Amino acid sequence: MPGRVSVSDLQKKKEQGRKITMVTSYGYSFAKLVDACGMDVILIGDSVANVVMGLKTTRTVTVDEMVHHAAAVNRGVARSLVAADLPFSAVQGGPEMVLEAARRLLNTGCDAVKIEWCDGCLEMIDRLRREDIAVMGHVGLTPQTAEETGGFKVRGKTAEAAHEIYQRALEQQTHGCFAVVLECIPDRVASVITKKLRVPTIGIGAGKECDGQVLVLDDLLGLFEDYHPKFAKRYAQLALETKRAVTAYIHDVSSASFPAKEHSFSIGDEDFEGFLGRITSA
Ligand code: KIV
Repeated sequence: MPGRVSVSDLQKKKEQGRKITMVTSYGYSFAKLVDACGMDVILIGDSVANVVMGLKTTRTVTVDEMVHHAAAVNRGVARSLVAADLPFSAVQGGPEMVLEAARRLLNTGCDAVKIEWCDGCLEMIDRLRREDIAVMGHVGLTPQTAEETGGFKVRGKTAEAAHEIYQRALEQQTHGCFAVVLECIPDRVASVITKKLRVPTIGIGAGKECDGQVLVLDDLLGLFEDYHPKFAKRYAQLALETKRAVTAYIHDVSSASFPAKEHSFSIGDEDFEGFLGRITSA
């Protein structure tokens, strides 16, 4: 049986000009469906904070929570490469804490971890690479530190800012990242970075010239309604479909039309009579 997609498979795709596909997943059933569709990479994103846990920020997700979701995802995946975000709480602790978090995530079956650009991230990448852990970088809009670095806005819109993002991507590559996520940057800037980098770029709100694309699954499926980023194309309307189905269930239960005969279990006449006899004689 063929194994999972590897880091070198992704590198080959870049070299052959074939696009890399990536999406987030946070649990067993969706991960299994996504894997069966032939996705290259599944990310247990710390966006789990927003779309699953209902938190306003990704900063408060714990390593324990990421490990919990990563274990569920890995149980459902046979073929995709699985990466997990290193949460802010671990990154704040420095290289040794990051290594400990990465080991726990890899123990659930993950193939790689992802780290957002932040002060000190290069030392953390070095620490992980010394243990031969596959690391994906992430530059541009980095949600864990977005609030203190200009807010949730497109990055790299001035020559200076674009150059800084380019340098960060290059540094993450130099320190051993096998791919770099480019989030919310102008398409022409992403295109240049993609051409300059030897490793694949994975874009989200970074135009079509990136080597691959990533979306949050709940955005792709139209399941998450709190906000709708401009870059997130909805391929389905599962929030609407969920509401339709649940409303129909409420109606069926209220009107006693569910469960029907086919959803119920039977007992033979003799046993049923015997059962009634025991009740009446009691
Ligand atoms: O947490 C996440 O979902 C991410 C992707 C959107 C890249 O980091």
